[in-house]
Amino acid sequence: MGATLNRRRRGQSQSQSAIALAVAVAPSLGCTFWNLLLLLPLPLAILLSSASSVESLTMTEIRIPKHIMRHEDAVLGCKFDLDGESLYSVKWYKDGFEFYRYVPRDMPPGQVFPLPGVDVELQNSTDIAVVLRSVSLQSTGRYRCEVSGEAPSFQTVSGHEDMIVVVTPKHGPQITGGQPRYQIGDMVRVNCTSAASKPVCHLSWLINGMHANRSLLRPYEPKVVGREGLEVARLGLEFRVRG
Ligand SMILES: *[C@@H]1O[C@H](CO)[C@@H](O)[C@H](O)[C@H]1NC(C)=O
Ligand SMILES: *[C@@H]1O[C@H](CO)[C@@H](O)[C@H](O)[C@H]1NC(C)=O
Ligand SMILES: *[C@@H]1O[C@H](CO)[C@@H](O)[C@H](O)[C@H]1NC(C)=O
Repeated sequence: MGATLNRRRRGQSQSQSAIALAVAVAPSLGCTFWNLLLLLPLPLAILLSSASSVESLTMTEIRIPKHIMRHEDAVLGCKFDLDGESLYSVKWYKDGFEFYRYVPRDMPPGQVFPLPGVDVELQNSTDIAVVLRSVSLQSTGRYRCEVSGEAPSFQTVSGHEDMIVVVTPKHGPQITGGQPRYQIGDMVRVNCTSAASKPVCHLSWLINGMHANRSLLRPYEPKVVGREGLEVARLGLEFRVRG
């Protein structure tokens, strides 16, 4: 009699297979990616000390979301202590290119320089915060805020932080390649494939709630899909059915 790797006790007619086991745990495979997001303080606040220790102008805080979901608006904050000096300008750069400048003496004080992936909401941007409308994957980069005091000192301080735009998978991982039923001695070869995301998902296989032995896993390189370069993760599982 052909034995099946089964879940007969669950009484599901179609479930007498290893695949049923795998499918049953599919929702819990998930993407550990989500955990990553939860663990990160958002936005991350970092205290900075002035580049110059003698003079008065200091940057007190630069606040940039470390991770942000695509299509969200990003608020980049930059706080400074003028200590009696007058502000000459606040300039914002992404990867070395200026995209926003605030000069209180100018009329209007705010000015935008076009840059791919950076869509400044001028109305809501000020000397201490710049608002980016609906970020895209292209918005990922290093953001720097540079504050300058008035003449005669023209003191300048700056600080920077990296922002990473993330795209979460649209649905859970999918399992393919399984047979409806197996016999003792059969090889089970199945794949788990994530939905496209950025950064790439981390997949795990669980068998009856236990992480599968590493020796059963078949890792594959992530596949890059679409114009935006989202990534699809794949992880195979291979084992012989035992009695
Ligand atoms: C700008 O600010 C106004 C008022 O606070 C708010 O209603 C609007 O949604 C903001 N726009 C953006 C793009 O942040
Ligand atoms: C799993 O995916 C890999 C890579 O795409 C492929 O070579 C292999 O044939 C797949 N296996 C099954 C059982 O679908
Ligand atoms: C995993 O598989 C290897 C090779 O079959 C075996 O030596 C090892 O004991 C297994 N580890 C666990 C935790 O089952």
